[in-house]
Amino acid sequence: MLANQSIINALATQGYCVIDQALEPSLAQALWQVAFDFQNDFSRAGIGRGDDHQLASNIRRDEISWIQGDTQATRQLMQAMQALQSDLNKYAYLGLKRFEAHYAHYPPGGFYKKHLDAFRGQSNRVVTLVYYLNPNWQPEHGGCLRLYDETDQFLLDIEPTFNRLVIFMSEEFPHEVLPTHQDRYSIAGWFRTDQLDALLGQ
Ligand code: OGA
Ligand code: MN
Repeated sequence: MLANQSIINALATQGYCVIDQALEPSLAQALWQVAFDFQNDFSRAGIGRGDDHQLASNIRRDEISWIQGDTQATRQLMQAMQALQSDLNKYAYLGLKRFEAHYAHYPPGGFYKKHLDAFRGQSNRVVTLVYYLNPNWQPEHGGCLRLYDETDQFLLDIEPTFNRLVIFMSEEFPHEVLPTHQDRYSIAGWFRTDQLDALLGQ
C-alpha cells in the first residue's frame, strides 16, 4: 500500500514527505482501535536515560507505549516498515538496521518542545516517521507538528489528521508538537543504524 518509491524520492529531494490516506483504511482503523484499547498502558514519556520527569515535563508532555508487534494490526504495521526499510537501504543506501516505534498520547495541554530526534555524528536515528490516528481533527484543536528546516527556519505546520504519515530525515529537521487542546494519538517511529544490543538510550 505504501508507495515506497515516492517516499524515497521525496526524502532524497526535500528530506521529508507528508502522505495522506497512508495505510489501508482497515489497518488504520485497527491501529486506532489498538490505541484505544491501550489507553491505560501509556506511561509518561521522558527524554533519554535516567529521566528526571519533573524536568522532562517542561520539554514534553505526552504518554507513550512501545510497540511490540503483539496485535495483528501492529504486526502488519511493522511488516510494512520492514519493507520500507529494505527499500530505503536498497535505493537510498541508508544502512538501516532496525525500526522502533511507540504509540503516543498527548492529553489536552500536551506538547513537545522543539527538538531534533538525532544528532550528527551520533546518528542512530536516521529516519523519523509519525503517523496520526485522530478522526475528525479540526484546526482549532491545535496540536500541529511544526517542522523547521536545517537552518532552523519555519517550514510548515502539519495537522495530525487520521491516517496521515509524515516522514523526515531525523538529523535535518528540528520540530515540535504545538500544544494540543484535544486528546491526540499518534505512532512515532525511527529507522536506526545501530543494533538492538546498543542499549545507549537514543
Ligand atoms: C517525537 C515527535 C511528533 C508528533 O515523538 O519525537 O516529535 O507529531 N513527535 O507527534
Ligand atoms: Mn521528535
